Amino acid sequence: MKHFLLILLFLPFFAFSQIQLEQWKFKQGDDMTWAKPDFDDSKWANIKATTFYENQGYDGYNGYSWYRVKFKMPKSLIEQSLLKDSLRIIVARVDDIDATYLNGVKIGETGIFPGDPGGPAGHYDKLRRYVLPVNHAAIRWDEENTLAVRVFDGGGGGGLWGLTPNVDLVDVIDFVTMNTDASAFDFSEKGKIKKLLKIENNHKETLLGYLSLEIAGKTEKIDVSIAPLSTFSHTFTFSNIENSKVTYTFSEKNKGKKLMASQMTPYILTPAEKPTPKITNAAVFGARPSNPFLWTVTATGERPMVFTAQNLPEGLSIDTKTGVISGTTPSKIGHYNIIVSAENNLSKDIKSLKIVVGDKLALTPPMGWNSWNCWGTSVSSEKVKISANALIDKGLANHGWSYINIDDGWEDKRDANGELLSNEKFPDMKGLGDYLHSKGLKFGIYSSPGEKTCGGMAGSLNHEAQDAQTWANWGIDYIKYDWCSYNDYLKKPQNEWSIEEQILPFKKLNDGIEKTNRDMLMSVCNWGMNDVWKWADKTGGQLWRTSGDIEDSWASLSSIGFAQANLAQYNKIAGWNDPDMLIVGWVGWGDKLHQTKLTPVEQYTHISLWSILSAPLLIGCDISRLDAFTYNLLANDEIIAINQDILGKAATCIEKTAKHQIWLKEMADGSKIVGVFNLSDDKETIALNWKSLNLHKYSTARDPWRQVDVGKLKKIKATTIDSHGTMMYVLKK
Ligand code: GAL
Repeated sequence: MKHFLLILLFLPFFAFSQIQLEQWKFKQGDDMTWAKPDFDDSKWANIKATTFYENQGYDGYNGYSWYRVKFKMPKSLIEQSLLKDSLRIIVARVDDIDATYLNGVKIGETGIFPGDPGGPAGHYDKLRRYVLPVNHAAIRWDEENTLAVRVFDGGGGGGLWGLTPNVDLVDVIDFVTMNTDASAFDFSEKGKIKKLLKIENNHKETLLGYLSLEIAGKTEKIDVSIAPLSTFSHTFTFSNIENSKVTYTFSEKNKGKKLMASQMTPYILTPAEKPTPKITNAAVFGARPSNPFLWTVTATGERPMVFTAQNLPEGLSIDTKTGVISGTTPSKIGHYNIIVSAENNLSKDIKSLKIVVGDKLALTPPMGWNSWNCWGTSVSSEKVKISANALIDKGLANHGWSYINIDDGWEDKRDANGELLSNEKFPDMKGLGDYLHSKGLKFGIYSSPGEKTCGGMAGSLNHEAQDAQTWANWGIDYIKYDWCSYNDYLKKPQNEWSIEEQILPFKKLNDGIEKTNRDMLMSVCNWGMNDVWKWADKTGGQLWRTSGDIEDSWASLSSIGFAQANLAQYNKIAGWNDPDMLIVGWVGWGDKLHQTKLTPVEQYTHISLWSILSAPLLIGCDISRLDAFTYNLLANDEIIAINQDILGKAATCIEKTAKHQIWLKEMADGSKIVGVFNLSDDKETIALNWKSLNLHKYSTARDPWRQVDVGKLKKIKATTIDSHGTMMYVLKK
């Protein structure tokens, strides 16, 4: 169902001992004779198993299909392994359900097909890993074998995806795991970088081998002997070479099979924060008349700090210690200009801000945190509080990050009155809301217009107004409303849904929201189906997802991010295109987190692109584990100001080659933001022809990441950018 690719960080190395299955044949439909080895599939289409069939000319196809591949299975595979007892077939990931046959014999099934008890139930992202004893009757050693995969796809992307299917023998190396996530890079000591690695031996025998770390041509290698079922840890320390590739290798001593992983070292671009006060708010804030009001004046600088606000309309007041402005929004529609100040022992900062009372909310893209990309459905009240506290303690809240949004996983069943209850992980929703508000933060929640959410929890179907009221009672400020099982309700194929039918469920919730007398944003989530950006503003929502779920890989990030090129015209103030949440920091979509698999360079590209797109910014990591590098990505006020600009324009692509793209965003003050992106796999020098870009009338350029002026525009003729990297310029007249 989801639309992304995963790049594996760990590359097991098995010279000659692994068979790659690349020449796949494909056919839509369903016929059990297609499992048979002697079936003639020569007329079937060729297909790649690494990406959905939608990406290969079968757009929008849902239903059954079959994949077949033929390969020779040499007996020498057995010789090359130390254990010699089991064959392993990896059939990539399958979106959504598969049954896999080797030479006509079923060797595995994942998910439940429609029509079978409990079906359909898919596992779009589960790796299909089927293991057989080497003497299994289905295996034809030293002869041709046929692997046939019956697939059912229920919607969205479909088919095999994610990696090249392969066959090999289960070996000792498969019982070894290398954990590069035991810690982030430690670069607190000047000129040094430290990395803790852990090797786990999950085998019942002692593991012998070598562990090495290589950076910039220098290798440090140590002998390792790890007792059965235990873990070995080692911290490598080396000179800090920023933005360099570090490769970790574990080699098993007897057969030389290797486990390798690599990472790039981090580097900081954002200048250190000054101790003097600096107000960071977006210049405007929208609120509806007579509703409860909450907007916090945010500032960086040493604490304690005293906040003031002049010209506040009647009904609003500021807490001078926290900067929280609260009360009741004036009943009179209009613009209220206020002057706020933040003062500490060193100095004072003053800024003019505007409260716009009317029917529009989210006058700048929402900024905050959402639980999904880190905790998935394992989210709990405790975890939410931990990230909220960390947002404040680590200083992110001072940069304007304010929403704390619970995604799927909080819901229980309905009570006798139809009231939707929170589950045992969220014992006191109202209390949690009060807590967040007391800290000047906002509170978000998640549901689905269908009977069930994507995580299988209770959805809001036929309870829209009731749920909106429940959420208002809890103090909710933001609702993500996720299509999920609404498919089942419509009971017909996607291409038969009318626009009105798709608007209706969202509109129902929005009508409910409007009756509650509480400002609650509605985030429309249908993964971009049926060009949602063309009609989502009719739902009453303030933001709408333009893509499937993002993952922490370059393939996912770049395919979603750069696909926004044609959507800028649909983005507007209080109607934001949403290319999904951020994937920096510790993510995991469940209870086990890992450091993002994006390189530091890619992470700069991620934040740069989302900022010029005016995309909603929702941090998706466990903020309590925020390291210095991730903080630097999320706390750059010049980058955030680009995103929060009150003109609300999304960037468009103004130059595109096979290797690079140049994007342009207009700002309210007349300046232009240029993002130069290197999409290629090599470092590139990209010529900047300001004349042909029609930007030659601008005179100076500034680098917003480093926050320095880079001089006269005409002197900047080219920029050299790492693979997948970005250079941003602010052009001024
Ligand atoms: C998906 C949605 C994700 C997350 C998930 C929860 O449909 O795109 O962002 O909300 O559901 O189950």
